Amino acid sequence: MENQEATTRGIWGSKVAFIFAATGSAIGLGNIWRFPTVVSQNGGAVFVLVYILAVAFIGFTVMLAELTLGRHSQRNPVGAIDHIKPGSPWKFIGYLGILTGVFILSFYAVVAGWAAGYVFKAVSGAFQGELTAEMSNQIFTDFSSDPLQVFIFFALMMGLTIFIISKGVKKGIEKWTKILMPALFLLIVLLAVRALTLPGAGQGLSFYLNPDFSKLNGTVILFAVGQAFFSLSLGMGTMITYGSYISKSDNLVSSAGWVSFADTFVALLAGLIIFPTLVSFGQPVDVGGEGLAFQIFPLILSKLPGGYIFGILFFTLLTVAALTSTISLLEVPVSYLVDEKNWSRKKAVWVIGIFTFILGIPSALSTGAVEFFTKIKFLGFIAFAFGNISLAVGALFICVFVGYIWGWKKAIKEIASGNPRFRLRFIWVFSLMFLTPIAILFILYFIKTLRG
Ligand code: PHE
Repeated sequence: MENQEATTRGIWGSKVAFIFAATGSAIGLGNIWRFPTVVSQNGGAVFVLVYILAVAFIGFTVMLAELTLGRHSQRNPVGAIDHIKPGSPWKFIGYLGILTGVFILSFYAVVAGWAAGYVFKAVSGAFQGELTAEMSNQIFTDFSSDPLQVFIFFALMMGLTIFIISKGVKKGIEKWTKILMPALFLLIVLLAVRALTLPGAGQGLSFYLNPDFSKLNGTVILFAVGQAFFSLSLGMGTMITYGSYISKSDNLVSSAGWVSFADTFVALLAGLIIFPTLVSFGQPVDVGGEGLAFQIFPLILSKLPGGYIFGILFFTLLTVAALTSTISLLEVPVSYLVDEKNWSRKKAVWVIGIFTFILGIPSALSTGAVEFFTKIKFLGFIAFAFGNISLAVGALFICVFVGYIWGWKKAIKEIASGNPRFRLRFIWVFSLMFLTPIAILFILYFIKTLRG
């Protein structure tokens, strides 16, 4: 018999269902849109190298910490901390996460709207024939600076997210991810193979994979670590919330490992597509802006036999991948209001959803529609402030809380349920308590090196 709590909160149908949902949260615009852009702007291969190290040592550590905290407490981020340290100020980690999630969603849904808009562009045949880089750039500029189009698709993505979330965790999330994520993966592999056989691919690959260490600096490290948190959905409690639905018999270590691996693999593939294509179409590899992915994917699609169909498929799947991430972003504030404030799920979803939409308006207007927001690069600024810095701060406090306040011994005990041996435990505890917090303090220090 199901008890009351299990019925209202839900639990993943199986370990596989959890992995799909968590991977669905992790894989999204962060991998396909944001990753190539930050690689391009931060020195290429050297960034990729720091990024991989950041995922392996820092990202994995925080992922396991969040999942453990979530499964132990079976609650949203605020409730999880309150469960362990009742009435303590540590709860602010949860509030920070909720705030961060709402801000990330506000610009993320705008970019997700671009992906949805590109489905219609693909259907209309905009990417057919001899597509040049100039034409593709123009298509993006025309689209992203037209407030009407941007708003329609931004509203569509918020609406879909609201709709899915209001139907509850199991029915809503599980259903979508199982079939569509593997399809996206296959299509990306196909595009990578095509990109690697373009003339000039070698030069693009060299920028992407052959590190130039003279380009290594504080900004590179700051962006690489921040991107790792963003891409793995860490630092704001997404994985605490998702972890709260995991069964006690599941192995948290292998789950965290698998999600981190799959996410990184897809990001690396996206780069394998973007950089060879840039060179092949005579474009510079190191000036990527917010539109980079949207300018480049149509080009490679136009080089594929059956590009018309694959183009529709690609942007549809990208939209779905973005949706499984927006769902996880909205789930954090919603689960807080439902668990802690006894709101109905519907009310929580609508109130937060509409608020986020309003918050996203300046981002939607910042790619050409309104000069002021365009000039201050509003979307890029919010993406950096919340998708990078705020997540890093959140991750820092999560490590300190799990390692020192809750206590690493108790965390290990929770992990042992489902993984009694946990061979990596000493490395994990070392990273949780020393390596990761110090690394984050170190990158936060580099904020001062940023210009303008
Ligand atoms: N990880 C998601 C992506 O890469 C974005 C995200 C960040 C989702 C933080 C949830 C929480 O697209």
